[in-house]
Amino acid sequence: MDRRNNPYAPGAGLQPPELAGRDRLIEDASTDMDRLLAHRPVKGMMLLGLRGVGKTVVLNRLWRTAADKGLQTTKVEAPEGGALPQLLAPELRRILYALDLQAAATHRMREAASALRNFVSVFKVKIGEVDFGIEPTPGYADTGQLEQDLPDLIEAVAVAAEERKSAICLFIDELQYLSKMELAALIVACHEVAQRNLPFLLIGAGLPQLAALAGNAKSYAERLFTYPEMGPLDPAAAQDALVHPARHLGVVFEQDAVEAILRVTECYPYFLQEWGFHVWNIAPAGRIRRVDVEQVSPAVVEHLDANFFRVRFDRLTALQQKYLRAMAELGPGAHKTGDIAATLGVKAAAVATSRQQLIDKGMVWSQRHGETAFTVPMFDAFMRRQMSVFERHKPKRRRFRSGRAQKRGK
Ligand SMILES: Nc1ncnc2c1ncn2[C@@H]1O[C@H](COP(=O)(O)OP(=O)(O)O)[C@@H](O)[C@H]1O
Ligand SMILES: [Mg+2]
Repeated sequence: MDRRNNPYAPGAGLQPPELAGRDRLIEDASTDMDRLLAHRPVKGMMLLGLRGVGKTVVLNRLWRTAADKGLQTTKVEAPEGGALPQLLAPELRRILYALDLQAAATHRMREAASALRNFVSVFKVKIGEVDFGIEPTPGYADTGQLEQDLPDLIEAVAVAAEERKSAICLFIDELQYLSKMELAALIVACHEVAQRNLPFLLIGAGLPQLAALAGNAKSYAERLFTYPEMGPLDPAAAQDALVHPARHLGVVFEQDAVEAILRVTECYPYFLQEWGFHVWNIAPAGRIRRVDVEQVSPAVVEHLDANFFRVRFDRLTALQQKYLRAMAELGPGAHKTGDIAATLGVKAAAVATSRQQLIDKGMVWSQRHGETAFTVPMFDAFMRRQMSVFERHKPKRRRFRSGRAQKRGK
């Protein structure tokens, strides 16, 4: 069919033509925003899920909802390696300006602006002028300790918002990339604004390990946030995600074609978009049939291997790749860390560093102590395609050669 009309949207954070199966989540968050505006206590939210389940698109949707409700909003994505002050300061500055436009600078506004100015200066953030016509006041957000200063700053901005009868909703994607200190600072900030019932809400998203990272950073994080888990869609929603966009364009998605796609994709949103997109391009006008799905599937798998899976694989060392291959040997799902090591033919301690590096890179995660699972759905099958033969690990033996042996050239 005409590619120009192809409605499917495979890609990171691309708004799908039909945001299927997430109504409840969106409804809950939307209720939280109303409660925030009504000065009722609200817990922050951290959306958890593997890559490609649709966290970013839900975050974007909620961002729009918040803006429509008149909240002051900002959305940032935590970069790998982190730099939270640099990320947040300009956004908080923008919010202060937006609040300021609603009335002349008041006492609270001046305090918030002071805090921001101090924060920017102690954390050497590069930012435009923080100029609300105020003199610097020491004592706000200027200790140089992020865990002290970020809460001070967020609290000051939230107080200013309260004075303006407004509320702030901060969205942060890829939260698992924050350093422990940054995550702790953010959690402390949420804790403090919650205790003062200030109108500030954090909605974040990250890989599943985020829940444990937050709990390790501050043990009370468990009670401070809700952690909605996003997984594959249920089959009815997955069907809607495929069928509705086609129907809007007068195209029939035959039932057994839909079922074939649900089977290969296991109802993971990103894969649904990829299959929808590719099968559309080869299907005859007006109709998508099972034979079209069967015809296109090998090409879609190849496309995913070369792009989605491959970019992650290529960033790894040989030993890290081998570790993942051993996991794949054990099949999908979580595996005992000891079993993975045994499959590799080594002691768990010998590959503990590689495992930790894979966790830090967001390739694997650990739901329970001593278990390891992929953060990308169907990565096990990719690993088996990529490294078709599995070889056990043979650590290089250090050879201690005597000086005489070296001289003899042995
Ligand atoms: N509920 C949904 N229904 C249909 N497609 C979706 C849904 N959620 C996400 N997608 C699609 O899945 C892909 C990945 O979404 P994204 O938000 O980037 O996932 P994540 O942030 O969890 O990695 C995008 O192509 C998006 O259009
Ligand atoms: Mg995302």
